[in-house]
Amino acid sequence: MTYETIEVRPLTPTIGAEIHGVKLSEPLGNQQFQEIHDALMQHQVVFFRDQDMTLEQHKDFGRRFGPLHIHPSAPGPEGHPEILKIHADERSKQVAGHRWHSDVSCDPEPPMGSILHLHTVPPSGGDTLFASSIAAYEALSEPMKKFLGELTARHDGSPNYHRRARVDGRVDTKQYPFADHPVIRTHPVSGKKGIFVNPVFTQYIVGIPEEESKAILEFLYAHTKQERFVCRFSWEKDSVAFWDNRAVQHLAMWDYFPQVRSGYRVTVAGDKPF
Ligand code: SIN
Repeated sequence: MTYETIEVRPLTPTIGAEIHGVKLSEPLGNQQFQEIHDALMQHQVVFFRDQDMTLEQHKDFGRRFGPLHIHPSAPGPEGHPEILKIHADERSKQVAGHRWHSDVSCDPEPPMGSILHLHTVPPSGGDTLFASSIAAYEALSEPMKKFLGELTARHDGSPNYHRRARVDGRVDTKQYPFADHPVIRTHPVSGKKGIFVNPVFTQYIVGIPEEESKAILEFLYAHTKQERFVCRFSWEKDSVAFWDNRAVQHLAMWDYFPQVRSGYRVTVAGDKPF
């Protein structure tokens, strides 16, 4: 693919690219928007450096890609319900995204993409790992692809959000979204297939015995996070990561305690997996 308005530097041949030559705080022209979209589709997660943005500019950038999603458990700062604050410091008992997941996959229509801007980063550590669930699917044997292609899995937000509340010493009895999604989903733009189960939200595979479900899910989690499917992003102040939740899973490293790591995420709404 060739780009005229941006420079695209792949992180690995499989997943991830840095994009240079664009200022996200300014309105994007149609060609530049299209090229960023194309790069995201090609590389599944894209990264930008030196992007000082206000919350409004961050939301405007997200809205170019679709309506914004509102997180079911974490209300945004005053006046910005579409913003998810990501923050860790010396008082933190846990951090967001510390286990492999695709954002809010418990929603009947899980988010298409997430755009994270960090304005404060620790002196070292705090990287984010991204795994291509498409490359992981493509590496499976044909009989396994056929077998998995017929399965659906139950995703549920309550166990995760209730556990997070307990760790923070809060009581949360709210019922969060749940949904049954295909174990292998088809990307609506590329038509490629990818593994769509993750250890944060997926509870079980529907209609098979619990022990079989556990074994299959454990296999898929271990398979997907192999380094041949993964890229690792090292943040700097004002870096931005934009990942396609239909194509990748991610994990935020928490190896910098008690340092501060802080920023905001805007999440673009998605549609029903098929
Ligand atoms: C998340 O959105 O899951 C957090 C990712 C990160 O903090 O790197």
